Parts: sequence; C-alpha cells; structure tokens
Amino acid sequence: GEENYEETYQKHRELMLILPKAKGWMTEYLLQYQGFWLKPMDELKGVLLLQNHFKPRPSDIFLATFPKCGTTWLKALVFATMHRFSFDFSNHPLLNTGPHGCIPFLEVHIYKDYPVTNVELLASPRLFATHLAYHMFPENVISSGCKFVYLCREPKDVLISKWYFMAKLRPKELPPLSLREAFELFCEGVSDYGPFWDQVLVYWKASLESPDKVLFLKYEDLRREPSMFLKRLAEFMGQPFSLEEEEKGVVQEILKLCSFENLTSLEVNKTGVHRFSPEIVVNNRDFFRKGQIGDWESHLTVEMKEKLDRITEQKFMGSGLTL
Ligand code: A3P
Repeated sequence: GEENYEETYQKHRELMLILPKAKGWMTEYLLQYQGFWLKPMDELKGVLLLQNHFKPRPSDIFLATFPKCGTTWLKALVFATMHRFSFDFSNHPLLNTGPHGCIPFLEVHIYKDYPVTNVELLASPRLFATHLAYHMFPENVISSGCKFVYLCREPKDVLISKWYFMAKLRPKELPPLSLREAFELFCEGVSDYGPFWDQVLVYWKASLESPDKVLFLKYEDLRREPSMFLKRLAEFMGQPFSLEEEEKGVVQEILKLCSFENLTSLEVNKTGVHRFSPEIVVNNRDFFRKGQIGDWESHLTVEMKEKLDRITEQKFMGSGLTL
C-alpha cells in the first residue's frame, strides 16, 4: 500500500546522503549503488521501486543495454518483431512514434508519482528497456521466467557516442566536459550505469548460465549480419519467423523499417521529442548520430585507444568474451 511506497521514498532520501559520489556526465554527480553509478534522483529511485514494488510476469521481456550501445535500434527491432501481426508496415506506429515511445524504460516508467505508463496495465508480453545490471533485478523477477535481451557494443565507440550525447543533454549551468575528462571518467568506470565492463560481464555470465533466459548480442554483429541476428532474436523471444514469412521477406521489411536511414528520415525523429519524465526531455534526433562502427578512430589518440583496449582486455580476461 501507500505506506510501503513512503518507506521506499524514505530509503531513497537516506541513500542520497550516504552513497559514494562521483562526477556526473549529465547531472552534477552520480551515486554508486550495488556497484554501479546512477543518477541520484530518477535512476536510484527507479531501482528501489523495481526492487521493492515491481510485479513481474513470466512473459516479461527486458531489453538491457549500456547507454549508447544501440538501445534505440533494439527497441525498434523488438517492437516491430513482436507486433508484426498487429500492424502493417506501411502504416506502422514506428513511422509516427520514435522507438522510445514504443517501449518504455522500466526504471523510469515504474515511478508511482509519474505514471506515463502504468506498467500494471500493459498487455502481455510486456516489453521493457533497462540500463540496469542484471543483479539489480530482485530474485522474484529473475526466477519468474522472464527473458533478457542484452545488447553491447565496442567500448571505444560507446565512449564517443556517449560523449556526443551527453554534450547535448548536459545542463547549461554545468561547465562542459572535455573528451579527455570524459575519457578518464569512463576508464574509471564513472558514467551513467557504469562501469561499462562490469555491466557487460554480469550479462555475459548470466547468458552463459541461462542461455534460454538471457540472449547476449553485439551491436557490431547486428550491423554486419542483421537478418541472421534478427532471426535469432525472434526465436529467443518465442516468435520465430516462419518459412512462409521468410519467403515473403518479413525479416527484410523489419530491418528496413528499423534501419538508421529509414528512422532518421521520418519527421517524428527529425523534429519530435521524447518525454522520459517531467525533467528529462530529449529531442528524438539526438538518439541518432552516425550509427557506424569505428567512429572512435577520428576522436581518440593512440594513447587513449591503447589504454581503453588494455582495460577491456584485463576486465574480460578469462571470461571468453571479446568486444
Ligand atoms: P553513434 O553515436 O555512434 O552514432 P542508444 O540508442 O543506446 O542511445 O545508442 C545510440 C547509438 O546507436 C548511436 O550511435 C546511434 O547513432 C545508433 N543508432 C540509433 N539508431 C540506430 C539504428 N536504427 N541502426 C543503427 N544504429 C543506430
């Protein structure tokens, strides 16, 4: 009931005072909770609400990403795939609504005091996006039988993508964050939902332990072999493409609908905005930049590249994972 929520809000207020702090990219500072850096207001509160009040369903599907690893693309692909029997490709919600309007972020929309979406009212299977690490999900969610699709990306490209995105969202009252400074923070693991490597590893391990519950994908693989990975994704979510659909070119239709070129050509993504919360309003066009592999090459020095590669190698050593 109400009192329980008040307890959670009280816990949030207490944690805000005691958790370790570090410099933020889009907010003045970040707080470290259960090993990860979160924005003090929305994100930390969202985690606490998830851990104390969320009612999972076995059919829930969570699209988990580190920011800038291709969340927008994954949302579009999953929405188009899961709802392909409900909509015509010529008159599709994705043509009028940005991908973020089609699939909500769990930790944002779970807010009891900001009911953009009442998550209880969503039809099954519910589709949620999240930037939270796997172990932040409470046991009742993990054991419910729900599924996670995790999409990761090469960290040097993540850093560059994030730096550009942050520059657009960082409040004007805060001094700009140079690439050098952003680089140092990223290397130390200090960025929203970071450390990057720790989040990737949590999902990588979960995918090895429960391959039928956690699908681990890479942005680069999806870029290079989109139809193969879209088919794998559909199968994992329990909606495999039939032979007939494949012959009719449904896979290609979905890829075309969700392509960088198509989405960026739409009016809604050129001029529309997405309201995550009363405070967080993002121009849809800011979710699309270049969509390329290896853009870091024109931004990072050799020394920066080597340092980041070394960290990645050390962190992933023995895990069997390479990015
Ligand atoms: P770049 O900044 O390297 O261009 P997220 O959606 O997690 O915020 O990630 C954003 C990154 O995904 C951006 O990378 C963006 O350009 C890219 N992106 C967005 N939509 C895409 C699409 N439909 N296909 C491929 N990449 C896409």
